[in-house]
Amino acid sequence: WHCFTKSEDGYLYCEGNKVQDVMDTVEKRPFYLYSKPQITRNVEAYKEALEGLNSIIGYAIKANNNLKILEHLRKLGCGAVLVSGNELKLALHAGFDPTRCVFNGNGKILEDLVLAAQEGVFVNIDSEFDLENIVAAARIAGKKVNVLLRINPDVDPQVHPYVATGNKNSKFGIRNEKLQWFLDAVKAHPQELKLVGAHCHLGSTITKVDIFRDAAVLMVNYIDEIRAQGFEIDYLNIGGGLGIDYYHTGAVLPTPRDLIDTVRELVLSRNLNLIIEPGRSLIANTCCLVNRVTGVKTNGTKNFVVIDGSMAELIRPSLYGAYQHIELVSPSSPDAEISTFDVVGPVCESADFLGKDRELPTPTSGAGLVVHDAGAYCMSMASTYNLKMRPPEYWVEEDGSVSQIRLGETFDDHLRFFEGL
Ligand code: LLP
Repeated sequence: WHCFTKSEDGYLYCEGNKVQDVMDTVEKRPFYLYSKPQITRNVEAYKEALEGLNSIIGYAIKANNNLKILEHLRKLGCGAVLVSGNELKLALHAGFDPTRCVFNGNGKILEDLVLAAQEGVFVNIDSEFDLENIVAAARIAGKKVNVLLRINPDVDPQVHPYVATGNKNSKFGIRNEKLQWFLDAVKAHPQELKLVGAHCHLGSTITKVDIFRDAAVLMVNYIDEIRAQGFEIDYLNIGGGLGIDYYHTGAVLPTPRDLIDTVRELVLSRNLNLIIEPGRSLIANTCCLVNRVTGVKTNGTKNFVVIDGSMAELIRPSLYGAYQHIELVSPSSPDAEISTFDVVGPVCESADFLGKDRELPTPTSGAGLVVHDAGAYCMSMASTYNLKMRPPEYWVEEDGSVSQIRLGETFDDHLRFFEGL
């Protein structure tokens, strides 16, 4: 099942809505279009997979921080995973229960840690200085902080180096040979810290569940070691990172159930609560970036489809060479020639491409073109480079109606930063 489907008449639909019709009714600029029911289905898949386990689905807010989406995820029962004080503030604003939130990061600052301590958020210890800052925050807040040790298990996630985090030269987490130092340091601060668990996060776009299994085996061994020293810890947090089918080839990829099943027995055997931190696998496939074709050109041996969207709205292809599937939203005329195109934006950078070497019927100016799987790490990584203002967002509701869930940024928003200076 996919929420964006091409019907036999050659039109792309999102939950019964012709994307072309949505384009015709909203602002004439690139926009993100989500399926709210697909978000629900993605959460339900995790919930069903987790049946029989004590667990928290901690949605990784960095993947997509739209407030309406956060509120929806919260209502569906998710907790949240935060990497900044502002993400924590937004989670609180969206009504998340702070005691079901986890604060991650290698550079958490004191001010944000104080807020986390006040609110009772789980905090992952990432380094020696981070531990000191958490202790200081606990004192300022007058609250004991529930902490997990972020252990770097040194497992290769077999992904792009920019999204690998659990290998030994990563900037994240503590080296396992330093574990004892951290346990002693926690013991030395009984007023400030309560060690409740262990955390790891291997990387993102992982498409083999064995990798999670290998890490979980290591992690429960650490938990055994930690418990043997008298700590009563009962949370295992295995992070996020499950990949999705960006290529749309119909390849069978591991599902949330496959992921949970691979760690289930380990979790049960130690009587642990499982925390997971999915971002991409909850939100990526629920959305397309909808663009308009500005024109088609050929230079040398290359053909280009130039669209109004760009690396400013969606940077993953430029930054990681990531593949995101691209298609036209409406049928092209029968005589449209099929060619190989680079799909590029108007930004003044040769890195500004959304897709390379894509076979498409030659589109006419004004044709709609979508970039699929744009729900995760697209809008949340958008910039205003070249003063392309961040796009508006819409979703299709359960009843099939389309609502706006974020306003598009405007030029006036930009000028506001200079008012009164
Ligand atoms: N937990 C931690 C500690 C993380 O660092 C991340 C992602 C997640 C959870 C969520 O991972 P997910 O389930 O979404 O894979 N911008 C890159 C992805 C960076 C991921 C960073 N960490 C991209 O566009 O592919």
